[in-house]
Amino acid sequence: MTHDNKLQVEAIKCGTVIDHIPAHVGFKLLTLFKLTETDNRVTIGLNLPSNELGRKDLIKIENTFLTEEQANQLAMYAPKATVNRIENYEVVRKLTLGLPERIDGVLDCPNSNCISRGEQVTSGFAVRTRQGNVLLKCKYCEKEFDHQAVMQNI
Ligand code: CTP
Ligand code: ZN
Repeated sequence: MTHDNKLQVEAIKCGTVIDHIPAHVGFKLLTLFKLTETDNRVTIGLNLPSNELGRKDLIKIENTFLTEEQANQLAMYAPKATVNRIENYEVVRKLTLGLPERIDGVLDCPNSNCISRGEQVTSGFAVRTRQGNVLLKCKYCEKEFDHQAVMQNI
């Protein structure tokens, strides 16, 4: 507990702290989920020492709260992340993540023949796991992909 005891990024009064993000994934989350498209203060810690993960990333967004569903969308990239709700400097809620059943509007289908490609349609994937692997099935072409294949083009 040596490292995690000291606050490595300044405490916030009110908002969301996404903690225990794998190192190098924090930046991806910021762009993918457009977390910086806000006027609220966002503070970021990258490659912070962590006992559990070795190195971790951390994102704090003031005056913003994520729904459970929004939080779960992060699980694919950061399955060990915790999403903390801070009010009046106190952690009032700590969500550990579960995989969502669906991921809509974030990822593009890797199938170049898919009708969703190049169209103004909202992408959608059903999520399931097979032997610890996360698989995504496109609702348009119904092809199923390893999640890595879908994430590659981000
Ligand atoms: N935090 C913050 N501002 C606050 C309170 C907490 O930014 N006013 C951050 C802490 O720095 C930490 C996260 O919110 O990154 C969760 O806080 P806490 O539950 O107190 O820390 P831990 O016990 O280390 O959490 P965990 O058990 O999830 O590792
Ligand atoms: Zn498709």
